[in-house]
Amino acid sequence: MLNYSSASERNRVPIADFLIPLLHEKSVVDVLEIGSGSGQQALYFSQCYVAMKQALLGAGVFADNFASKASNSASKASNSASKASNSASKDRQVLNWQCTEMPENLPSLRQNLQGSGLKAPFELNVQACWPTINVDLLYSSNTLHIMSWLQVQAFFAGADSVVKSGGFLAVYGPFRYNGAFTSQSNAEFDHILRQHNSASGIRDFEQVNLLARKARFSLFADYDLPANNRLLVWQKVGLEVSHG
Ligand SMILES: C[S@@+](CC[C@H](N)C(=O)[O-])C[C@H]1O[C@@H](n2cnc3c(N)ncnc32)[C@H](O)[C@@H]1O
Repeated sequence: MLNYSSASERNRVPIADFLIPLLHEKSVVDVLEIGSGSGQQALYFSQCYVAMKQALLGAGVFADNFASKASNSASKASNSASKASNSASKDRQVLNWQCTEMPENLPSLRQNLQGSGLKAPFELNVQACWPTINVDLLYSSNTLHIMSWLQVQAFFAGADSVVKSGGFLAVYGPFRYNGAFTSQSNAEFDHILRQHNSASGIRDFEQVNLLARKARFSLFADYDLPANNRLLVWQKVGLEVSHG
């Protein structure tokens, strides 16, 4: 695999523990990922999603039988039948995970995803043009502390433009809370990031959340993940969230 990241290999498992059930529960089908890197996470999440659907389909044999029997019998059973068949069709949904990258990382990502069944990735710099699409989830991992603050702002504006009303925005990485790092290792990481590029750095949760609210997202969950990282999930509510 080109551009392999051992950090991505480690953190994909705890992220999947929260993300994959959410994808199923909320009927998330179309996903756009920003800054996919090697594509390791996209590949892994897609495999986890298929495995989970297969497990559910196995367990759903009863629901299928029940649905067809009930629809042939008394009309009072029709509600249960349609619920069961809705749940069975939900279990068959496929995940359409679309990776993107900056131009310099696109060739390696493209090569890594070849033959995987995932769509070919495309170029997306958050500060340039965003595609005119509607997705159920915009996902990005370990990118906000790499981007400049202007790029982070562009990220949230772009999220507003592509995520459907009721859809989700999920961001993984380290964040500061109440102006403080959550660990000494994050403080050291921030120092290294800023030495490398003065525009980079670990972002304040409160400032990022404010950008999300301006982009019409409301905080849905803030998961505490290993190695002092978070998985922040917002839901698109349609109107700008009030600041009170
Ligand atoms: C630390 S890597 C994370 C890669 C991958 N998401 C992961 O978790 O392994 C940061 C990624 O952000 C991308 N990135 C940086 N600036 C960007 C921008 N302005 N627009 C889109 N992606 C950007 C980089 O190309 C890089 O792949």
